[in-house]
Amino acid sequence: MTNGRVLDVAHVEAGYDLLQVLWDVSLHVDEGEFVALLGPNGAGKTTTLRTIAGFLQPLDGDISFRGTPIGGRPAHTVSRMGLGYVSESLNLFPAMTVRENLQVGANSVRNKAQVASTMELVFQLFPRLLERRDQLAGTLSGGERKMLAIGRGLMASPSLLLVDEPSLGLAPMATVATFDALKALRERGVTILLVEQNVNTTLHLVDRAYVLEQGRIVLEGTGEDLLSNPHVQAAYLGI
Ligand SMILES: Nc1ncnc2c1ncn2[C@@H]1O[C@H](COP(=O)(O)OP(=O)(O)OP(=O)(O)O)[C@@H](O)[C@H]1O
Ligand SMILES: [Mg+2]
Repeated sequence: MTNGRVLDVAHVEAGYDLLQVLWDVSLHVDEGEFVALLGPNGAGKTTTLRTIAGFLQPLDGDISFRGTPIGGRPAHTVSRMGLGYVSESLNLFPAMTVRENLQVGANSVRNKAQVASTMELVFQLFPRLLERRDQLAGTLSGGERKMLAIGRGLMASPSLLLVDEPSLGLAPMATVATFDALKALRERGVTILLVEQNVNTTLHLVDRAYVLEQGRIVLEGTGEDLLSNPHVQAAYLGI
């Protein structure tokens, strides 16, 4: 195990059937870090997360999680190792209640006391979900559904959480609530790799970020570095 390195993605190439999307992608996330992956629509951000989470086989390159190679391992194996993934599409069970959806997220956890305390944490992070714990997920608002998806991702107590665009489609208030929850998680020691379009807010929030364009990492640096980078300013901040 490398000291403090939680995720190491090295020279990864990946894509779909005839279409290669990722080219020589390298990035890493260290223990306790909050790292963002930014870039325009279609750049390959979701593809990167799906490849890390085991939903796509890399064509080349290496991925390791806490020193163990996981490239090409199936998603359920990767998830059991403690790598959580909250996808863009959420994949909630609409006919199940909030609480039942959370319980599904804890399927792999044997310790009942741990499940109860994690659920308490989720309700603390998202009081809205506590109010609506017996409501069917299919009747939640878009923002509440995002919160539930993140909450469900937390139920397995992952030590690394990949989150894909939690603010997509949310009004500013709900976006703030979601970012606050991510901040709170980070303060609790959860290591996070976040994909976001909200570049300004994200760069103020994270320790470091990578910029992915057309499937290649074109920039990396601290939030501060990137906020003052001319390319970031022109392409993402409208400065
Ligand atoms: N299942 C798929 N089959 C074929 N091509 C796909 C598939 N999923 C994504 N792609 C293509 O791969 C490229 C990268 O897509 P990806 O979803 O990774 O981008 P993204 O950076 O997450 O974009 P967005 O910000 O719009 O979510 C796009 O050109 C997309 O059309
Ligand atoms: Mg995406």
